[in-house]
Amino acid sequence: MAKIICVANQKGGVGKTTTSINLSSALASYNRRVLLIDMDPQGNASRGLGIDITLINKCVFDVLAGEDINNVIRKTSVKNLDVLPSKLVLATIDTVVAAKSEQPFYLLKNALANLKKDYNYIIIDCPPSLGLLTLNSLTASDSVLIPVQCEYFAMEAVAQILASVSKVQSTYNHNLTIEGFLLTMFDSKTRLCVEISMQIRGLFKENTFLTQIPRNVSVPESNAKGLPVTSYRPNSSGAIAYFALAKEVIDHEER
Ligand SMILES: Nc1ncnc2c1ncn2[C@@H]1O[C@H](COP(=O)(O)OP(=O)(O)OP(=O)(O)O)[C@@H](O)[C@H]1O
Ligand SMILES: [Mg+2]
Repeated sequence: MAKIICVANQKGGVGKTTTSINLSSALASYNRRVLLIDMDPQGNASRGLGIDITLINKCVFDVLAGEDINNVIRKTSVKNLDVLPSKLVLATIDTVVAAKSEQPFYLLKNALANLKKDYNYIIIDCPPSLGLLTLNSLTASDSVLIPVQCEYFAMEAVAQILASVSKVQSTYNHNLTIEGFLLTMFDSKTRLCVEISMQIRGLFKENTFLTQIPRNVSVPESNAKGLPVTSYRPNSSGAIAYFALAKEVIDHEER
C-alpha cells in the first residue's frame, strides 16, 4: 500500500516542487514505484519532468471532477516514476467542481482510493497557498513534508502551515503526521541561513531531516532540461542530498 506524502508550505519559492520531483525520482531509483501528483495549477512539477502541458488534454482537474485516474496518469523518462500532471485549469476547481460537491475536501482522497496498491509512494506537490488544493492534499495524505528555506519570514510560514495541519488533523484527517521539516537551498556561509536552521532544529529536533538540501546550480539547470537533478547530474551536491533524503524517508517506514 502506498504511503502518501504531501509537500506543503504556503510560502512561495521554498523548494516544494524541486523537492517533490527529486524525492520522487530518488525513491524511484531505489526501486520504489512512485506517483508524483502535481496539485499546483502552475504545472511546474509536470514541466520539470519533461511534460509539455500545452499538449495534454486531461490533467488532475479532470480526475477531481470524476475522470478515471488511470486515463490521466503518464509515465515519465524516469523508471518507476509516473506523474499526474496539472494545467492552469486546476485553478478553477473551487468554482467549477468543489462548489457542487458535498465533500469538497475529499475530492483527491476519493480519487486515490483504488490506486494505493499500485505504488509504494505517492508524492503530492502543493501550490503556495492554504486553499482548497492544499487542504485536499493534506486530507488525502498520510504525512506532510514541509520544506523550509532559511530566509526571512521562514518561521512565520512554518507557524501557518502547522496551523493548517492541526486544522486538518482535527477535522478531515485524524491520521495525518509530520514526515519532517526539510531545510532547502541551504548555504552555510550565510548567517541568517545558519540561524534559521538552528531555530528549526531546536524547535523540531525529532521532526527535522538530518539531510539538508544545499543551494546548487545543477538544480535550476535540471529544471530547464525537464529532468530531475538526480538524473541530469546524479553526482551534483543537490542530487546527492536528494538521494540521502529518500533514504531517510524509506528509513521512516521502520520507525
Ligand atoms: N537546492 C537548490 N539550489 C538552487 N536553486 C534551487 C534549489 N532548490 C530550488 N531552487 C530554485 O528555486 C526556485 C524555487 O524552487 P521551487 O519551484 O521548487 O519552489 P516552490 O516552493 O515549488 O515554488 P512555488 O511556491 O512557486 O510553487 C526555482 O527556480 C528552483 O530551481
Ligand atoms: Mg512549486
